Amino acid sequence: MTIEPPQTARQLNPMWDCPDVEAAVATLVSALQRHQATITGIRPADPGRAMVLEEALDRLESVRGRPGFYPYMGSGFGRGPLVQLADGSVKWDLITGIGVHGFGHGDPDLVETAIRASLGDTVMQGNLQCNEEAVLFAETLLEAARPGTPLAHCFPCSTGALANENGLKICMQHRNGAPRILAFDHNFMGRTISMSQIGDIPGGRAGVPLSTLVDYLPFYDVQDPEGSLQRTMDALEMALWRYPDQHSCIVMELVQGEGGFNTATAEYLRPILDRCREVGIPIWFDEVQSFGRTDRMFRYQGLGLEEYADMVSVGKMSQVCATLYSDELNPKPGLLSATFLGGTVSLAVGRRIIQRLLEGDSYGEDGRHARLFQAFESGCRSIIERNPSYFPPVETPCRTPKTEFPHVGGVGGMMRLTPYGGQLAPLKALLHRLYDRGVIAFFCGHGPYHLRLLPPVGVLQPADVEAFLEQIELALDDA
Ligand SMILES: Cc1ncc(COP(=O)(O)O)c(C=O)c1O
Repeated sequence: MTIEPPQTARQLNPMWDCPDVEAAVATLVSALQRHQATITGIRPADPGRAMVLEEALDRLESVRGRPGFYPYMGSGFGRGPLVQLADGSVKWDLITGIGVHGFGHGDPDLVETAIRASLGDTVMQGNLQCNEEAVLFAETLLEAARPGTPLAHCFPCSTGALANENGLKICMQHRNGAPRILAFDHNFMGRTISMSQIGDIPGGRAGVPLSTLVDYLPFYDVQDPEGSLQRTMDALEMALWRYPDQHSCIVMELVQGEGGFNTATAEYLRPILDRCREVGIPIWFDEVQSFGRTDRMFRYQGLGLEEYADMVSVGKMSQVCATLYSDELNPKPGLLSATFLGGTVSLAVGRRIIQRLLEGDSYGEDGRHARLFQAFESGCRSIIERNPSYFPPVETPCRTPKTEFPHVGGVGGMMRLTPYGGQLAPLKALLHRLYDRGVIAFFCGHGPYHLRLLPPVGVLQPADVEAFLEQIELALDDA
């Protein structure tokens, strides 16, 4: 008797490995690639299509109740870092839906994955009933996150804010209802009622009655590393003295996203994390924005902080969001659920993205993300040298600066440049000029403000960086 190899659940679907399906998928992907050959660089709007864009924007404004930051409406077509808009123009997309489209537009391999997944029997998968894509996504993410950490479980969900809500509930239950949260100045965690209170953006909670108890710690200050560690430790000790055993967790973005692409060193973070360990406070890294795009898949890996990761939340580039946590934090039944776990296509594409990031040359000291950042940094330095008047010293709130605030910062595919001394109004004007030239970027920070790029790291090449920096320099000159 021959024993059949075990089948995966998906192989029981007759659409799996079906020759007709294989041929159809190949036809679709090759049609896409044939059309994509027409997209080779920035292109101005087609005058005949200006009305199409205007009408689409009017409708968008009407349903949403307010205009968008940019007059943007995608046509649904693009190639890698280039996207075609409804007016026929083609632009560099260097913000990718705030970090979501890590492999850019119309990536043939991801489109192929999506087509196959779209043949599944349901559009959405849920927590009561799911298909194998849900398990494969969670397993792949956990496998990438796990080495050297206590992480043992993965709970997928549909948004970063929900991944964080789930994380907060888990920590609170684990700490027997401890009501307080330790967080850092200028962090961001999403826009639900509790996350907008933990996040340090006053406008994001304007009018919201406060119900979440947060103790803020100052974050790493690149202008005064030693002083900033002392200040953070003092604030931490004060919070622990004032509210003993009342903290459910300490949560942090290891690269602050909305707060200004602020990085921190392992030397700064370790004493803080050790102290939290000592008093039994779970440590939570919010990697929703940094996931996939720094020098390693997770920033805690790049900093060598694996042992501290009791909980990690991810989102954006992963397509489906998730909370990962240790066995010790595994909550009681009933605490977590939701109708939607994720869309079938998103789960399959999210898993494929994780696989490609791990299999490719993205990571490590000489990985592509590091090389992209080097190309960005050295290109920006040349721009600053050639245009010093646009780069006066940056004004910061640091009271004990030991060095000037650097005009260029970030890590891997989180890139920032700080013109105009960090002022917001001229930066916004620059962003709009840049947009008109064919480059889509955005800003971050709470003062100083920075030009922010979250480019499609999965498909961008160092030579591309030179091309878009040229546009940034020209847009500075248009001032
Ligand atoms: C660090 C961080 N956490 C959480 C969130 C919230 O994610 P979402 O917008 O998917 O709810 C974001 C979004 O920008 C983020 O940057």
